[in-house]
Amino acid sequence: MNLSVELAPRRKQGLPLQNPVMTASGTLSNGLEAIRIFNINRLGALVSKGTTLRPREGNPQPRTAETPSGMLNTIGLQNVGIDALVRDIAPVWATWRVPVIVNIAGETVDEFAELASRLDGVPGVSGIEANVSCPNIAIGGMLFGQDPKQAAAVTRAVLRATTLPVIVKLTPNVTDIVGVARAVVETGADALCVINTLQAMAIDIRARRPVLSTVFGGLSGPAIKPVALRAVYQVAGAVDVPVVGCGGISRGEDAVEFIMAGATAVQVGTATFANPLAPIDVLEGIERFMAESGVSDVQELVGAARES
Ligand SMILES: Cc1cc2nc3c(=O)[nH]c(=O)nc-3n(C[C@H](O)[C@H](O)[C@H](O)COP(=O)(O)O)c2cc1C
Repeated sequence: MNLSVELAPRRKQGLPLQNPVMTASGTLSNGLEAIRIFNINRLGALVSKGTTLRPREGNPQPRTAETPSGMLNTIGLQNVGIDALVRDIAPVWATWRVPVIVNIAGETVDEFAELASRLDGVPGVSGIEANVSCPNIAIGGMLFGQDPKQAAAVTRAVLRATTLPVIVKLTPNVTDIVGVARAVVETGADALCVINTLQAMAIDIRARRPVLSTVFGGLSGPAIKPVALRAVYQVAGAVDVPVVGCGGISRGEDAVEFIMAGATAVQVGTATFANPLAPIDVLEGIERFMAESGVSDVQELVGAARES
């Protein structure tokens, strides 16, 4: 069975993955704990925690809340910062077989470019995921991804600053995700990740206060899967670069839905909180589905549910 996929077909070196299952940024940190629990090297790729120029402590507690079929988070990009990432973490990744993609978040276009240039040529780093979609920070974040011109400006700056393949991660918190996707791809993005979390909130009725310290947070998990699937279907129909589907995937069947909607690869995020082995389960579920349906190459499934 061939499960390999290519995330950067426009590039000579490409960004080949041995299978389409990736981890979603921010849900397995930088993989150093997860590798003790399961063999990360079986996956297609690992995506790092959102990384910023300076270390960040993130938002005050409470910053997570459970919801029916999902969760809210407002972590606020807690991370070690690019210096520690390059110095301490990338050398560990360089000993792994799985490609690692670093998710970056800048407060300005220039910060995105600076982050990208710092990662260029670093052993252990195979690609960049530009996060123009974080709903939980005051400056930058989702605001970039809500404006096609701003999203394109970030993409352009990142592409100029690095030779690494660049995936741009889109926010669903827009009226027209296809417009943003087109602007980013016209600027040269190698691939798109669809979607980040949906802006949402919860209220503690006894305290008469919002549950999260920042009032709003991002909704993820199975609750958002149909929304993410719709967005992937729309975006994949409008652009000619690989789309990475993300949102509520916890089983192989979920991943197959995204692939049939047009995704080349998928990311597993919130599911790992209840089941740290979820990415492996998703991979094995895809393999089982392919075996049962007599599919020998996962490419045959990409876009299979689209009108031709
Ligand atoms: C606790 C938590 C932290 C996250 N941190 C990041 C992040 O740093 N960068 C990013 O681009 N997305 C981040 N995300 C969004 C996920 O990568 C993913 O896009 C989203 O959760 C939807 O997928 P899921 O339903 O499989 O979790 C985070 C999500 C969660 C739940």
